Amino acid sequence: METNITNKGTATLTVDGKSYELPIYGGTIGPDTIDVRALYKQTGMFTFDPGYTSTASTESQITFIDGDKGQLLYRGYPIEQLAEKSTFLETAYLLINGELPTHEQSIEFTNTITNHTMLHEQIERFFQGFRRDAHPMAMLCGTVGALSAFYHDSLNIEDNSQRDISIHRLIAKMPTIAARAYKYSIGQPHVFPDNSLSYSENFLNMCFSVPAEKYEINPIIADAMDKIFILHADHEQNASTSTVRLAGSSGANPYACIASGVACLWGPSHGGANEACLNMLKEIGTVDRIPEFVARAKDRNDPFRLMGFGHRVYKNYDPRAKVMQETTHAVLGELGIKDSPVLDIAMELEKIALNDPYFIDKKLYPNVDFYSGIVLSALGFPTSMFTVLFAMSRTVGWISQWNEMLEDSSQRIGRPRQLYTGAGLRDYTPMDKR
Ligand code: CMC
Repeated sequence: METNITNKGTATLTVDGKSYELPIYGGTIGPDTIDVRALYKQTGMFTFDPGYTSTASTESQITFIDGDKGQLLYRGYPIEQLAEKSTFLETAYLLINGELPTHEQSIEFTNTITNHTMLHEQIERFFQGFRRDAHPMAMLCGTVGALSAFYHDSLNIEDNSQRDISIHRLIAKMPTIAARAYKYSIGQPHVFPDNSLSYSENFLNMCFSVPAEKYEINPIIADAMDKIFILHADHEQNASTSTVRLAGSSGANPYACIASGVACLWGPSHGGANEACLNMLKEIGTVDRIPEFVARAKDRNDPFRLMGFGHRVYKNYDPRAKVMQETTHAVLGELGIKDSPVLDIAMELEKIALNDPYFIDKKLYPNVDFYSGIVLSALGFPTSMFTVLFAMSRTVGWISQWNEMLEDSSQRIGRPRQLYTGAGLRDYTPMDKR
């Protein structure tokens, strides 16, 4: 990766009367950064930033978020335009390669992905080892990591062509693993990929078709599925992406790195929020109970939070939530779902929260997960599959960021430091003196 960093002068840091000059760097858009890499060497001090709220961990040219404007760009293109005009595979090509594909490149990329959709037959036996009631995220995490045991021919991360094969395999095989995990959890026979179908059609087919009956793919539903995948494809240096980069910084193989991303995404503060949000809407149950839950969310002594609200970076409406809201209405309309209690509660909750001083002052707006649970549930997915779908789409972002990191000559193993406040040096106490 060629650096695009521009020098913008220096910042002066004064410690105990001594001054240090720290370089300031600018990017294309977004805040400038102060380079503190030499700080420890020069001052013997670390920076303290738990949760990395003020730390740029890397230079990146893939995704940009302007949290105040509520803007999300993939390689410069607004998410709204990609959701409306692009396809998931075209967006994947864009994220990985930096430019939209030409017609020929698009055909070649689609063919390559399509030709990698099948899983090694022995992975079937691997699946049989899971308990029937295993959470599909547990199966996804384990199986993605296990791919490194099946595809030894693409593990050399120093070799560009092997890296490419791993990237294609991961994008192609994630839907097959995700659908396999789903079928396994409901006790249905697994459905092989059908390479005559588009990426999203194939995924729907693998999830919802059964040998006994023909499954008709509704183009509006397939289009909604594709949009959902596009919306979740990347989101700059979020927790799971940073996890993938950190795992990859040690030279770990790509399948292991993606498994680490899946594990991190699982948490309810991250990818697990759509599952948590739908559960919350069901728990609220009726519109008249909303004030009770809003009051709980505002109560400092109550750990309850309104799921699907708030974001570390967006201090405005999450642009993905807007597209997701439209997609939700399109899907419910197509499926003829006129009465949706959870949608009614969601719409009312959104209205109340957006007018409540607590949420206004803290800039807590609906995020992508607020609507995604409703739409995924209408599409027929159980809540346990929501985060799996998120992981499938985000694999494209994770692997693009992993690849970018490996092409970055300034890349080093990630190794944060700490402010130690534990016990000082002391001698071992024998058992009878404790
Ligand atoms: N409901 C009520 N209060 C909230 C909420 C919420 N959903 N989110 C934040 N707050 C309050 C929080 O209590 C704090 O108040 P105070 O300043 O009085 O202590 C203030 O807003 C700032 O919150 P924070 O926890 O410091 O913010 P953060 O940037 O660390 O957390 C977040 C961001 C997404 C984890 C958080 O907003 C949250 O837990 N939201 C609910 C879970 C959710 O929807 N997550 C999905 C995120 S989008 C998909 C993804 O990227 O994975």
